[in-house]
Amino acid sequence: MLWIKALHVVFMVTWFAGLFYLPRLFVYHALATDSISIERFKIMERKLFFGIMTPGAVLTLIFGLWLFLGYGIDGAWLRWKMGLVAVLIAYHLYCGKLLIDFKHDRNRHSHVFYRWLNELPVVILFAVVILVVVKPF
Ligand code: HEM
Repeated sequence: MLWIKALHVVFMVTWFAGLFYLPRLFVYHALATDSISIERFKIMERKLFFGIMTPGAVLTLIFGLWLFLGYGIDGAWLRWKMGLVAVLIAYHLYCGKLLIDFKHDRNRHSHVFYRWLNELPVVILFAVVILVVVKPF
């Protein structure tokens, strides 16, 4: 089980690398005016989302569910945790939608919007790690 938990944590870190960096790229993309920078941001965002962030998400969920279903680890803390993970999945999919908007030069949000959007994963990371390590309930 410890190997599964180790892989769960490794891919969680991979997922969060994307959850933290992609909205940051959106901040600078929304500020960019020259076509060279804009095309470079499109390539970076696509590679980050499909090459790192999404595989990280899928493998975090596979190993997390393996720990839950395969080893029967459960508790109120895990139900609250999975609720927060559902918010993270919705956030991930919304980032995918924004990526497509930027790809087609249809972005309608300012860099300030993306700076605030960038904060949500930080709050969820704190809450999830406290729930799973401290297990307050
Ligand atoms: C559906 C999604 C997920 C499920 C079902 C799940 C389930 C679990 C389970 C059952 C454990 C073992 C807990 C223990 O042995 O005490 C665990 C460990 C852990 N999970 Fe998840 N998890 C999920 C997603 C996540 C996410 C998104 C994060 C990060 C934000 C995360 C962070 C962790 C950490 C840090 C541990 C290690 C805790 C420790 O060793 O004490 N998990 N997870």
